[in-house]
Amino acid sequence: MKQIRLAINTHHWDPSESVESFLNASSTQEFQHALSCIHPDERARITRKLVREDAKMALVGRLLISAMFVKEYSCSWKELRFSRTKAGKPYLERCSETNVFKATNVIFNISHHGGWVVLAAAESCAVGIDVMTLEIPGKRAIPVQDFFVSFQDQFTQSEWDYINRPADDKKKLRRFIQYWCLKESYVKAIGVGIVVKLASIEFGGLPEDDNITQPNAPITLRLNGIPNLSWHFELSDLADDHCVAVALAKRPDDDSAYSDKTRFEVMQIEELLAHAEGL
Ligand SMILES: CC(C)(COP(=O)(O)OP(=O)(O)OC[C@H]1O[C@@H](n2cnc3c(N)ncnc32)[C@H](O)[C@@H]1OP(=O)(O)O)[C@@H](O)C(=O)NCCC(=O)NCCS
Repeated sequence: MKQIRLAINTHHWDPSESVESFLNASSTQEFQHALSCIHPDERARITRKLVREDAKMALVGRLLISAMFVKEYSCSWKELRFSRTKAGKPYLERCSETNVFKATNVIFNISHHGGWVVLAAAESCAVGIDVMTLEIPGKRAIPVQDFFVSFQDQFTQSEWDYINRPADDKKKLRRFIQYWCLKESYVKAIGVGIVVKLASIEFGGLPEDDNITQPNAPITLRLNGIPNLSWHFELSDLADDHCVAVALAKRPDDDSAYSDKTRFEVMQIEELLAHAEGL
């Protein structure tokens, strides 16, 4: 089974002066070009965003999805059409004839946070992804224990035990964010978003030495306390200050696809824009 993991850092891409200039004449040619390469509905979504960094990441996310289909499945950019489920999860609706069978079986999901945009895709298998910066959201200078208070109900006792075991606050926060990303990756894979009680999705098997780069015992899932073996989870670090989790529904016919950690290919904005074509 083909597995795709792409990541792109938008921090240094500075194509326009301000969010207000996204659509007007003062925005740069590059940004106008990038916007012209995505569907008008998505263009409108992006230009409605109030925070410039959010708009930039959302735009790059849309471009990344199309670029993946062009690069990996030789689809024609102009013929790709995407839609969203009622809950907002994007999917491929239509593509060019060339690789139509393979491409339409590709399930993908994106996530963006702290300047990074990540994408995970797999053939005929539900996928969810979540990326988060390894810091207290909003850069609030509060002790981690105070930050944790608001999330008391979202984790089980055994998850809190794992989070709080290290003496170091940074390690505690990292473990908290790893669990958070795993939970989000799962709810995004099933496509519902955070409408379920997060404590009902319980993870285990994370390493006590915090070394997630070494092959370790598989991450385990319990749903409402019952072990669930139908999913595979990947946890990785991105650029030392981000955590990414990927959830994949297991295919009974292809267990080997889950044995290795799938590495993220980091793309540059220039490469992304080189694939893009105006619609
Ligand atoms: C979907 C959700 C989990 C996203 O989480 P987040 O941490 O804020 O954002 P992320 O960066 O990880 O992911 C955002 C991307 O996930 C995708 N996405 C949106 N809705 C999704 C869903 N229901 N399931 C899976 N993926 C979804 C989109 O591609 C989105 O990026 P885009 O809008 O720029 O294309 C969160 O917004 C949520 O729980 N929403 C609740 C779902 C909901 O209420 N839907 C409305 C019902 S009518």
